[in-house]
Amino acid sequence: MWEAPEGDLFADKDKGRAAAGAGRGRASDRVPRDVTGELTAEDLEQDRNLRPKTLDEYLGQSRVRDNLRVLIQAARSRNEPLDHVIFSGPPGLGKTTLAGVVANEMGGKLHTTSGPAIERTGDLAAILTNLGEGDVLFVDEIHRLNHQVEEVLYPAMEDFALDIIIGKGPAARSIRIDLPHFTLIGATTRTGLLTGPLRDRFGISYRLDYYTVDELMSIVRRSAGILGVDIDEQGARQIASRSRGTPRLANRLLKRVRDYAQVRADGRITREVAEEALTFFEIDELGLDVMDVRILTALCRTFHGKPVGLTTVASAVGEDPSSLEDVYEPYLLQQGLLVRTPQGRQATPEAFRHLGIPLPAGK
Ligand SMILES: Nc1ncnc2c1ncn2[C@@H]1O[C@H](COP(=O)(O)OP(=O)(O)OP(=O)(O)O)[C@@H](O)[C@H]1O
Ligand SMILES: [Mg+2]
Repeated sequence: MWEAPEGDLFADKDKGRAAAGAGRGRASDRVPRDVTGELTAEDLEQDRNLRPKTLDEYLGQSRVRDNLRVLIQAARSRNEPLDHVIFSGPPGLGKTTLAGVVANEMGGKLHTTSGPAIERTGDLAAILTNLGEGDVLFVDEIHRLNHQVEEVLYPAMEDFALDIIIGKGPAARSIRIDLPHFTLIGATTRTGLLTGPLRDRFGISYRLDYYTVDELMSIVRRSAGILGVDIDEQGARQIASRSRGTPRLANRLLKRVRDYAQVRADGRITREVAEEALTFFEIDELGLDVMDVRILTALCRTFHGKPVGLTTVASAVGEDPSSLEDVYEPYLLQQGLLVRTPQGRQATPEAFRHLGIPLPAGK
């Protein structure tokens, strides 16, 4: 599995492909072909600038945002920390961003860690005892916490207390340490992987959904403003509609289209420039990239539209089963290009149509 640095974009998804398009060819070809590829230090710095810091800057997800606004205001006026929150949803939809926004709106300090980073109960105890009153502890990939660590988290969440065992054998005794009142924010790409007892301890739970094209357009325009890029309405629409409902990808595409516009046009992003650039980067009209197309092609051609198991598909396309399931599949499902049946994954007639492959006889 991968450890994503702050602001990383589909890190695992890029690994095998990053080398494919970078640093090759003539000066005129200098725009990297692989849009979701390697991140430069400049990319990371810009990602930090693009990340919304307040609820007003956080665009889309209006239900979640309106809800949070009320809950935050209520908690603030009672002078209490916000109840513990869990955000779930596919990568790049703004879970980490929301954690930062909540901390900021609550006026608490944000402490960030992740499930796999907390190996021992002692690690968690150290984190918890370092928190201040009203702070926010953000645990990314919270479904990957180990069992012992989770057990320590329960009383911390419920009673703001830490139970520590001192000594061994018959002399062992448990002492309880009081913790400051903090808010735990968990993020997970799949709620199904969360244990029941942990899920029950979150008072607030939101599932983030894919963004609409209009919402993504406003995100693209906001980001263009921050980056100082000149873009018109139709240019923004082109980028938004090929961003798979995902703000992270919208920002990524915006930056690569900007590069293209700078090298191959006059720097301004219009509909034509955006279309040309996205075709150049092999992002199709639905926002499918090379790997998405490879998955669908395998299902349609190699497996003739018959259901196949996840690991079989994964090995056919040379991808890890869990990233296939977490990163690629949700969008293909949402677009109706792929279905999950009890027998396995199956391409839909729409997938055949989209790829221009004739349907097998009898379909
Ligand atoms: N609602 C939003 N408005 C504007 N920009 C957003 C919004 N949500 C996300 N972004 C942008 O998309 C990027 C990715 O968001 P974020 O890192 O929060 O996703 P995530 O859900 O935590 O993904 P992962 O599951 O991979 O950790 C952010 O850097 C931010 O710039
Ligand atoms: Mg995140």
